Amino acid sequence: MGGIFGFVCRRPQSCEIVGEGLKRLTYRGYDGAGFCLLDEQGKLVVRKVAGHLEKGWERLSFHSYSSDVALGHTRYASRGVPADFNSHPLLDCRGRVAVVMDGFVSGYEELREELRRRGHRFVSTTDTEVLAHVLEELLERQDLKGALLEAARIVDGIYSAAVALEGTRGLALISKGQPLAIGFKQDCHYVSSDLVSLSGFADEAIVLEEGAGAIVTPGSVEVFNLLTGAPLGELVRKRVKYQVESIGKGGYPHYMLKEIYEIPEAITRTAASLMEKYLRLSAMIISSARNVIVIGNGTSLHAGLIAQYYFAELAGLNVNVVSAAEFPYYALKNVFTGTVILAISQSGETSDVIRSVKLAKQRGAVIVGVTNVLGSRLTMHSNVYLPISGGPEIAVPATKTFASTLTALSLLAAFTGLYTGRTSESKLHGLYGEITAASQLLKEELPRQEERVSRIAEELAGEERMYVSSSGISYPLALEGALKLKEAALVHAEGIQLGEMRHGPLAVAGKMPILIIEPVEEQATELYERVLGEIRGRGGRAITVGYRRESHIVIPRLSEVMVPIVAAVPLQLLAYKIGALKGLPIDTPPGLAKAVTT
Ligand code: F6R
Repeated sequence: MGGIFGFVCRRPQSCEIVGEGLKRLTYRGYDGAGFCLLDEQGKLVVRKVAGHLEKGWERLSFHSYSSDVALGHTRYASRGVPADFNSHPLLDCRGRVAVVMDGFVSGYEELREELRRRGHRFVSTTDTEVLAHVLEELLERQDLKGALLEAARIVDGIYSAAVALEGTRGLALISKGQPLAIGFKQDCHYVSSDLVSLSGFADEAIVLEEGAGAIVTPGSVEVFNLLTGAPLGELVRKRVKYQVESIGKGGYPHYMLKEIYEIPEAITRTAASLMEKYLRLSAMIISSARNVIVIGNGTSLHAGLIAQYYFAELAGLNVNVVSAAEFPYYALKNVFTGTVILAISQSGETSDVIRSVKLAKQRGAVIVGVTNVLGSRLTMHSNVYLPISGGPEIAVPATKTFASTLTALSLLAAFTGLYTGRTSESKLHGLYGEITAASQLLKEELPRQEERVSRIAEELAGEERMYVSSSGISYPLALEGALKLKEAALVHAEGIQLGEMRHGPLAVAGKMPILIIEPVEEQATELYERVLGEIRGRGGRAITVGYRRESHIVIPRLSEVMVPIVAAVPLQLLAYKIGALKGLPIDTPPGLAKAVTT
């Protein structure tokens, strides 16, 4: 799986265009990169490397090539290790068919064996390569369109693929459940895994629907049904006008640290740019819903769990929170006309979220999306969406977008409270003031916190396991802190409720440090003190993040709503600092991608 970017033009263009397009798609994977082009004689030239596109940039040497047809890929290694030979494009036996793919092929092992028995040589361990060999056989007896239809039937799975062929000045596309867009400009057609990456290249674009195929040449775009071959007619063209910033680290050693320092600005921007009419519309929809289910994955799921407290506190509503990875298997049953799905996804491209949203819509649900990326699939599938305006987040561990998402969700809950009668206009106004104050406080506190956290990180850098524990609204924060430790510091960390520490985990309390976030709720004070005492009594090492002067990391006491936004910062810093001390690739942790798109 990964990201696809290519072009078909009337005149030769620099292949750097493909490199630039792929840069915008590295959020989909960074285990390999490559591209192919047609030379003047119509032969395929292929270049590819393992690892992140940026690292391979020199070797790939996009700028040294130009062509009227070029096709590139940035890879997330789901089938086959990261290695030059597994990077895309993948070729048939004779090097005449080049395939790039996003997604996966089901049952590819059998297909591969069958092809091998018929004499095909495989050079990679990917599933993608089977498509190249299947097309190789089919193209011997059929034209391109016929071969594409037949190949799509034989090669099963959830994927999108783009194919370049020797001697053919065009690209062939298959869309079977993964996104693929075609961008239009006067002399060029572009192909990409998302709409946003087409900015600046294409003026308008169409998104291929599941089950569609296409043949793109300099002068035409033919879109057809993959089952019947029947033309799909004119698809609705969308204007491509998204902001694509190219950003540097601004003097910081890693994007993650830079993005943590951007939190104060991000949260005020979120509050200022969320338009009241959309907040009111979403709030009205939620307040009159039959049931509300919040979905998301990873950090977005943790933001959803915090939102559960926001809705209870500010709107008097009980909402259910379900991982988007689990939602289709049991929560979908309780989706009816009148259900509202609050779908949270920073990237707006996470496949679990998109799949859940599509399934819920089929059952009559209304979708309220919360995302950082305009033009993402989530914005397209939502009935109404709230852009969080966190600004581009490059590091894989999400930091500032967590803060921006929480800001947006707190406002949404408060607006919902206006309709349920739980929140007054003046309380809502007060929330805007609290966001500004929290931003100001964070700005002042951040350098001090970084210094303090650095010292604690030095003490913890040798640890391989940790607990992160808290209660109430800070419990999802413990889950988030543990997730950051896994991603940025490669520490096996587990988030746990304070009260649950006493039901088993205390047995291993002496074996690893326990990071405890002091609960903000007064009723939980006694629990906090009791568990802390028990841990220490068993020889355990507790590191406290709290409001008392004696805490190892002191955080300002703010309202319950603001606490998760502000208290997340020292946890993010701790994970970052441990990762930095270990010399880890913090911005691009091994085996991950910014968005899990398949
Ligand atoms: C957290 C992280 C992941 C993402 C998750 C959801 O640092 O990288 O856990 O939060 O994959 O991603 P989005 O929010 O883009 O749907």
